[in-house]
Amino acid sequence: MNESPVLHPDRNLAMELVRATEAAAIRAFPFIGKGKKNESDGAAVDAMRAFLGTVNFEGLVVIGEGEKDNAPMLFNGELVGNGLGPKVDIAVDPIDGTSLTAAGRNNAISVIAVSDRGSMLDASAVYKMNKLVTGPAGVGVCDIRLPIGENVRAYAKAAGKPVDEMVVAVLDREYNGEIIQQIRETGAATRLLLDGDVAGGIQAARGDSRIDICAGVGGSPEGIVTACGIRALGGFMQGILAPREDFERERGAAAGLKFDYVYEMNEMVSSDNTFFVATGVTDGALLSGVRKKADMIYTDSIVIRGRSGTVRKVFAEYQASRWI
Ligand code: FBP
Repeated sequence: MNESPVLHPDRNLAMELVRATEAAAIRAFPFIGKGKKNESDGAAVDAMRAFLGTVNFEGLVVIGEGEKDNAPMLFNGELVGNGLGPKVDIAVDPIDGTSLTAAGRNNAISVIAVSDRGSMLDASAVYKMNKLVTGPAGVGVCDIRLPIGENVRAYAKAAGKPVDEMVVAVLDREYNGEIIQQIRETGAATRLLLDGDVAGGIQAARGDSRIDICAGVGGSPEGIVTACGIRALGGFMQGILAPREDFERERGAAAGLKFDYVYEMNEMVSSDNTFFVATGVTDGALLSGVRKKADMIYTDSIVIRGRSGTVRKVFAEYQASRWI
């Protein structure tokens, strides 16, 4: 790809953003396994916001910690960054897996996704979304309107894999009971996620992971975050909003959201200029968690840039005495 720094002055943005997810993960580290969900989230939010303030960009928080009144920081509509550089939309999830972190369980990550200003769908008025995520082989092959069994079989064929070797990640929730059963009926295996379907989705689109598909209902903000990563990875994703309460339908309609409607990935994020960065909080299949040994803190992150399709793994070592 012919890219010059002059044409893409924003290409270092992802490497700047990773400092914010590293900071959030490191600040959450002392709370891992301590049963302190709110404290770990609060520490991650504070750290992420402080680091974002130093980055050369003007980020409009489209997916944040909620409404201004309930979320003192990183609320939807807040501007973050130092105001210099590109104007972008930003979705933050300082910890995807707050319960995992509090319990000391695997697979919690800290995530930021960014795309050009005005290109990110604000789906936050509706809490849940039915999602279907696959790697590139699913493009033009899978369709969320089809029964999951058909998608599993079609994807297996396109990816050149026996159906009984397929692995489908699904959030382990009562509301996903039916889809879990249908997946198993094909002969494919499920990976039931206690939490954290952003990591599940990203793994589905990565060639080096055990997960082939991520399917079922999860959070809709997490769906938009995932879409930024999947678009950058050249994968496939569709989503259907899944409101459960009347007020969600009303709020969603007022916000211009569509129901009984398939959101294609390119509607969830309409620009190919996306960035997705994540740092492991606890150990997981996508990323290792934060480790502290002697005076060092080690972090493991992934940085994906949509325009170039580049994926970087970033291992950082910090002096603990400067942090904790
Ligand atoms: P939090 O860490 O923000 O609580 O999110 C965890 C998570 O498992 C997401 O990954 C997922 O999309 C969502 O919650 C599912 O929602 P619910 O737990 O309400 O079914």
